Amino acid sequence: MDKFNNQAKKWDTEEKIKRGNSISKAIAKNINLNKQMNVLDFGCGTGLLIIPLLDKVKSIHGIDLAPNMLKVLDNKGEKYNNLTTELTNIFEIDSKFNLIMSSMVMHHIEDTPKLAEKLYDSLEPNGILAIADLSKEDGSFHDSLDGVYSLGYSNDYLEETFLKVGFKEVKVVENIFTIEKKDKKYPLFLLIGTK
Ligand SMILES: C[S@@+](CC[C@H](N)C(=O)[O-])C[C@H]1O[C@@H](n2cnc3c(N)ncnc32)[C@H](O)[C@@H]1O
Repeated sequence: MDKFNNQAKKWDTEEKIKRGNSISKAIAKNINLNKQMNVLDFGCGTGLLIIPLLDKVKSIHGIDLAPNMLKVLDNKGEKYNNLTTELTNIFEIDSKFNLIMSSMVMHHIEDTPKLAEKLYDSLEPNGILAIADLSKEDGSFHDSLDGVYSLGYSNDYLEETFLKVGFKEVKVVENIFTIEKKDKKYPLFLLIGTK
């Protein structure tokens, strides 16, 4: 994950902050957040999803593989006492959470069904999953496909994959944000799964 480590200091552009805010809003709109919730953000990067949601839940644990991303978040997080961070892989997590969220991470993980299974296992009973990522795209989103394992996702694939590992309900909310890049539009979805 050298790429993200090197990009960390310049990650928080106006566009990415806007994206994080829109995804956080979509999460808050579609899920009943409350002060009893312990939340995990996997691949949290610099915490663009975390910061807007910290005052709505009990705690947020941000994990990432890129130490420099976490350094940027730790510098922002000094004034929050319900934020913790950890340099680790989602597959190494052994606590359970009421809500697991992420933004733009799933397409960087090779085995989606294995990830779906791990996320299901890492939720408390009735826990909720909220994953934002790219809808199906033509491969033009990334400049290099090194470390990119999916060119976005179709609703059918998401529903099938997450229902298969045990989620009792899976809903895909489309167009929660559109990334505009190289004269093209890349819409994002929010997958909501209920354990
Ligand atoms: C495209 S960035 C998104 C960062 C942030 N979520 C955002 O929306 O601004 C993807 C992040 O996922 C992290 N990542 C990739 N695979 C991971 C894994 N298996 N476990 C934890 N973090 C991972 C990367 O280090 C990187 O910081």
